[in-house]
Amino acid sequence: MAEKIVVKNLHKVFGPKPDVAMQMLKSGQTKDQIFQQTGMVVGVKDANFHVNEGEIFVLMGLSGSGKSTLIRLLNRLVEPTHGQILVGGNDVAAMTKKALVDLRRKDMAMVFQSFALLPHLTVLNNTAFGLEVAGVDRKSREKRAMEVLEQVGLGTFAHKQPSELSGGMQQRVGLARALAVDPSLMLMDEAFSALDPLKRTEMQELLLKLQNEQQRTIVFVSHDLDEAFHIGDRIAIMEGGRIVQIGTPDEILRNPSDEYVRAFFKGVDVKKYLVAKDVARTDETLVICPSADARADCARAIEQLRETRRNYAFVVGEDGRLQGTVSIDSMLRTLQTGGQALSGALLDDVGAVPDSMSLRDLIGRIVKNPLPLPVVDSAGGYLGAVTQTILLKKMVEEESGHE
Ligand SMILES: Nc1ncnc2c1ncn2[C@@H]1O[C@H](COP(=O)(O)OP(=O)(O)OP(=O)(O)O)[C@@H](O)[C@H]1O
Ligand SMILES: [Mg+2]
Repeated sequence: MAEKIVVKNLHKVFGPKPDVAMQMLKSGQTKDQIFQQTGMVVGVKDANFHVNEGEIFVLMGLSGSGKSTLIRLLNRLVEPTHGQILVGGNDVAAMTKKALVDLRRKDMAMVFQSFALLPHLTVLNNTAFGLEVAGVDRKSREKRAMEVLEQVGLGTFAHKQPSELSGGMQQRVGLARALAVDPSLMLMDEAFSALDPLKRTEMQELLLKLQNEQQRTIVFVSHDLDEAFHIGDRIAIMEGGRIVQIGTPDEILRNPSDEYVRAFFKGVDVKKYLVAKDVARTDETLVICPSADARADCARAIEQLRETRRNYAFVVGEDGRLQGTVSIDSMLRTLQTGGQALSGALLDDVGAVPDSMSLRDLIGRIVKNPLPLPVVDSAGGYLGAVTQTILLKKMVEEESGHE
């Protein structure tokens, strides 16, 4: 996977003598000690990470942890004190002002919490503003602006003034303005935080929808766990200027690196974030692979099921793909009609579930029809099974483990 952003040993010290602060950091002094002794603030301390092309990378952390400083270092709205920032292979820290301005206009867009629309310009002209600054002629920029306004569902509002729009709609214009220049990289700092929860979820959905249509690289700052987990492919958690953990939502959830990270999950309903592949197990259900085992036939499968006191088995091909489910009854019927092959005994009503199905939906399925559910990946590969017992155990575990 290609890396869009690479950050190495990045530091930012706010204050008159950053070199002194850097020396103090080197000799092991903390952010607090440096502040107490010199009044200088270590905004970001030794950040190292990369962001893949097409990825939504979320920076999460408490207020003052350095999220805004870090995202602004990426386009040098904040000047780095030390370290390296590569965007698309170009060293941002070493760029001339002119090259930087060019990059910001053409290939990097930033969306802030305050939408900062120009009050005297129409929605259309606000959207086209970045293009105008970049010198695009009127006709082309208005055509493009109209296109993105349609994308964010504001086509009919193009000729209104910003003040005639609700907060949620204004934020859509902010997003449209960023999209208009067709940037490969979007930097979004608490872009949806000023919106009420419903509007906020709507914007998250819109962002994911747009991302589905055209993949951009997005760095997204949020202090909200729900938001981070919903939209983030990977999340970096910041504390006191440092990145304390980077991982997929799933990795962070399962293995929080310390108490600070764990504290984010206090009072959070972890079940909400679990999906089929997190709970699927391979040791609860009998799996038979007919192509690998020449003796796999109905009579033997029935025997195995009876020995292990089970009623169902999954049939999986040599390529790892799920072929279907057989039950003792279906196999007995096959035997009665003179058949032996498992392929003749496959049930037709046991649908596989995708690995991304939520726990809530899984519970819905199992309540309706309490058969073991085979979980498959997007290519149809068998990953494991979810059973009633597994779901119950998981729920009890979560209740007692996350109080
Ligand atoms: N221009 C500045 N001058 C001095 N200190 C600054 C400046 N900008 C930020 N800081 C300090 O750097 C630290 C990190 O601030 P930053 O704004 O990056 O945090 P944040 O994680 O974005 O917080 P929030 O969630 O409140 O937006 C804070 O201690 C802040 O006071
Ligand atoms: Mg901030």
